[in-house]
This record gives sequence, C-alpha cells and structure tokens, in this order.
Amino acid sequence: MKFFIDTANLDQIKEANDLGILDGVTTNPSLMAKEGIKGQEAVFNHYKTICEMVNGDISAEVIATEFNAIVEEGKKLAAIHKNIVVKVPMIKDGVKAIKWFTDNGIRTNCTLVFSAGQAILAAKAGAAYISPFIGRIDDSGWDGMLLIEQLSHIFQVQGYTSEILAASIRSPNHIIRCAEAGADVVTSPLESILGLLKHPLTDIGLAKFLEDAKKSA
Ligand code: G3P
Repeated sequence: MKFFIDTANLDQIKEANDLGILDGVTTNPSLMAKEGIKGQEAVFNHYKTICEMVNGDISAEVIATEFNAIVEEGKKLAAIHKNIVVKVPMIKDGVKAIKWFTDNGIRTNCTLVFSAGQAILAAKAGAAYISPFIGRIDDSGWDGMLLIEQLSHIFQVQGYTSEILAASIRSPNHIIRCAEAGADVVTSPLESILGLLKHPLTDIGLAKFLEDAKKSA
C-alpha cells in the first residue's frame, strides 16, 4: 500500500518525505485555503514546489464543474509537472472529463467518492486513482471501511486498473484497516502516519535497554 500525505503544508510534507516512506501528496481547495494560498498563480506555484519536494504523484484539484472548463483547467494543472494527477470531482461532467483526460494521456484522481456505484463509473472512465472518503462516511453514521472492502472486491473481480486511494483518514487505525482491506493507497494527515510509530511498550523497552546499556558502558 502506497502512502500519500493529505496536506498542502510544506513543513509536514517535508517531515513525511524525510521519513522515507512517502509515495505522493494529495491536496484539495480546503487544504490550500488552510495554508493561506490564494489565487490561481499562487496555487499553481505551490503545486510546483510540492512536485519539486516529493518524487511521486501529486494530486491537484480542479475548481471548475463544467466539462469544458474542467478540461481547460486540468490541462493547465497537468502542464505544471509530469507528476501532477488531475483531481476531478465525482459529478456527471467530472466523469466525462475523466474519460477525456484518460483518452488524452492525462492521469486523474476522482474525488468525493462515497459509494460503489460512483467508484465503478470512475473506473470505467479510466481514473488512475479513485478516492473514497472514509472518515466522512464514518461521520455520517456509516462504516467507511466497508466501502474500501467492497471496492477492493469489485475491482479484483472486474479487473479494474484504477487504484483505490483511501482518503479522509482520521486515525492510525484507519490506515491499518485500509491495509487489511486492500486499499492500494492511503492518503493521510501527518498525525495519523506518525501515530503508527507509537506503542508504550516500545518506549518502556527502549528506556530499559538504554538504562542497561549504561551498566555495560
Ligand atoms: O483530500 C480529501 C480528503 O482526504 C478530505 O479529508 O478530513 O476533510 O474529510 P477530510
């Protein structure tokens, strides 16, 4: 399972990248706004900086919601760097645009996916990545992990080549369960990635080893 970080914060991207386990980055307009990045030029420059920092796929989301406008914006985003993957929302014009991008050699990430039906449409259109939002499904009283399991099964049975990119991750346990359920990629905030490191018995064990090492020093 590949690890992407879900942020536009350069310090956090650097920290995850320095760990040596980072395979890519996902962003969205909310994450850009959180970093105070305003205007198309600043947003495009920010994507360029991220592409220069991380050797992996970088999802850059379109703001447009109408087919021709999505295509025009997506072409500009794809021209920023070879690793840009154009993130397109799961709407009717979005599906149409994903098919256009697929036919024209531009890779896409279909975002805001909440059901198997939506994921099947995105896979048929040729999306490179499909992003089910598991945390937001949990927030609405359903079980987001069931969708990952269902997609993993459907994609295997049907031989779909799109990668299941589990998004809206809220905890280290989400990451572990995504690995178990067969997600191809998980995109996570830094906190949940670092949470995987933690175990009290590791801390207790290390303290004891270091204490004992002093005795034989
Ligand atoms: O990048 C999309 C997704 O990961 C959003 O997560 O936490 O806003 O539901 P969240």
